[in-house]
Amino acid sequence: MVSKQDIKHLAVIMDGNGRWAERKNVDRVEGHRAGAQALKNIVDATIEQGIKYLTVYAFSTENWKRSPKEVNALMKLLRDFVDKDLLEIHGKNIKVQAIGQLSTIPWPTRRKLLKAIDKTKDNTGGTLTLALSYGGRAELVDAVQQIAGQVNDGTLKIKDINEDLISQNMYDPTLPDPDLMIRTSGELRTSNFLLWQLSYAEFYFTDVLWPDFNAEELQKAVDFYHGRDRRFGGR
Ligand code: FPP
Repeated sequence: MVSKQDIKHLAVIMDGNGRWAERKNVDRVEGHRAGAQALKNIVDATIEQGIKYLTVYAFSTENWKRSPKEVNALMKLLRDFVDKDLLEIHGKNIKVQAIGQLSTIPWPTRRKLLKAIDKTKDNTGGTLTLALSYGGRAELVDAVQQIAGQVNDGTLKIKDINEDLISQNMYDPTLPDPDLMIRTSGELRTSNFLLWQLSYAEFYFTDVLWPDFNAEELQKAVDFYHGRDRRFGGR
């Protein structure tokens, strides 16, 4: 089989933290904590794979409907991620950024996040994009509003609206479209993640719950993408 081009951009729906916690008979928040650790490991594994862009669904527009306890815990985990892991991530020359309706994120968390984004903005080793308070439909609505505004004020003609222009109005127009999307925990949906950008991506679904997803599991997804089973001479 002809090998596909290298993976430049990997998108991940980190699902199954709650079920991981349930199986261990611990609080859901513990599942998210383990999920944050898994994310940290996958950032490293992604860089080792030579993948330059990693975008993760960390908090969806729907997630605001969860209990205040769980929402607060997720915000705290994000602050902890910035406090504890950022230096290491910065040391690896990785740029951290966020896409989504960031203005809805409570200020103490947003403030830390913005600092992290600013501190790492010139890094060139890779880009970690956190989708936060993110919804693919909301992103399209925001893009349509921007484009309509330009038509309205006469700076854009309707006939000049094309796919490139819509891509340019996504939250981060510099991100290449993902080549591969991974969703853990056995759910077979895209759940409003990167609706526009995933049009040509390969999808890899695994039953592994997000907190158990590691470098070995990432390798399986990469092998799936390349349509081969690397056995290194074995079997
Ligand atoms: C889905 O699991 C996961 C989330 C809603 C949040 C993802 C967050 C993390 C991995 C950790 C925090 C992230 C950062 C950036 C520090 P679920 O709760 O829907 O699992 P379930 O479907 O089994 O209930």
